Amino acid sequence: MSLDLDAVRSQFPALARTVGGQPFMYLDGPGGSQVAQVVADAMTHSLLHANANTGGPFATSVESDAAIVESRRAAADFMGSKPDEIAFGPNTTTLQYLLAHAAARTFEAGDEIITTELDHDSNVSQWLQVADDHGLIVRQARLHRTDGTLDLHHLESLLSPRTKVVAFTLASNHLGTVTPFREIARHAHSVGALAWADGVHYAPHRRLDREQMGLDVLFTSPYKWFGPHLGMVAIRHDLAASWPANRVRPADETPAGHRFETGTQSHEAMAGMTAAVDYLASLGAGATRAERLDSAYVRIREHEDALALQFWAGVEGMEHLTVYGLTDPERFADRVATFSFTVDGAHPAEVAQRLAQRGIAAWDGNFYALSASIALGLEESGGAIRVGFLHYTTPAEVDRLVAALGELG
Ligand SMILES: Cc1ncc(COP(=O)(O)O)c(C=O)c1O
Repeated sequence: MSLDLDAVRSQFPALARTVGGQPFMYLDGPGGSQVAQVVADAMTHSLLHANANTGGPFATSVESDAAIVESRRAAADFMGSKPDEIAFGPNTTTLQYLLAHAAARTFEAGDEIITTELDHDSNVSQWLQVADDHGLIVRQARLHRTDGTLDLHHLESLLSPRTKVVAFTLASNHLGTVTPFREIARHAHSVGALAWADGVHYAPHRRLDREQMGLDVLFTSPYKWFGPHLGMVAIRHDLAASWPANRVRPADETPAGHRFETGTQSHEAMAGMTAAVDYLASLGAGATRAERLDSAYVRIREHEDALALQFWAGVEGMEHLTVYGLTDPERFADRVATFSFTVDGAHPAEVAQRLAQRGIAAWDGNFYALSASIALGLEESGGAIRVGFLHYTTPAEVDRLVAALGELG
């Protein structure tokens, strides 16, 4: 079965928006998706009817605690981990900083970290800063300039017995490239290093599974996959237990909490995240939520892959457009439906402005994928324009985008 696009779209009030008499088109998904009605409903319920701090004997606290336990289960189903391996925080960047600092306290001066040029800077900068504090060495694996894929041989050549962490993204939020995560994790483990993965851009497009993918630490942010602003991480249990955690006395692990969660969390965002996972699961079939997610992602991928091919067929012949990353349709299995491009003779900000005038939301710049922007020589000239297709994007929208880009020539 494929996705019922009308049924999908009817669940997102934002998709009904019009600008200048025509439907508004959300191609800014890589920066943040739209939110399903059920997500907002769950957040409203949490705020209006189950608003209490944790651990109390009274009704609202009991209900709030139950919702937190359920959000840990939903996150575990979503990330292919165990509920007690999930920690929540305000966003992925903050969790990256927190955990990098904690892990680094177990390393020694001269130990090494590998990052990649495909990464969002939240998975690069924090290691550079932590390295300063602890005398670590950070090396960066290159991307292939020609097709935006990761240079795995280069990454392999950087490994040493002192490598402690290989930090990499599962998918580039700039070029859409998917990285060979199994090989990367295998290489990391071959020298005793951690496979430290950023699943933020990958998660709206493909199924996460920390255990199956061989990852030790996996981050994602529900606001990229139809949920609220929140960050979450799945950390192998033994690792989290072995890292020093800065905690307020006498706070300790509670049944509802994780030792890398500090202070009061956004319970309403956690409730909204649970609803987002349930929404995604509702797009698939199966006996359990995890099975429904498996099936939903098969449908999502089929739909988005078709949109990617349609987009490429539409723009391939446009001489005024330079598309970065993988453009060989035979290799589209190694990319998600996120495309970056420049338009000859036009600054990316001007192109984004012209698209906005046509009711199309698209970002320009480097999208915090700073290393990729520098590697591709885009940083000095305003970066690129990025469009992202999600499961609620329609073929008609892709046609409209292609027509708009054609008019820019
Ligand atoms: C690939 C990737 N990693 C990390 C982040 C940072 O996530 P957050 O905004 O939750 O800190 C983003 C945000 O755009 C991203 O696209």
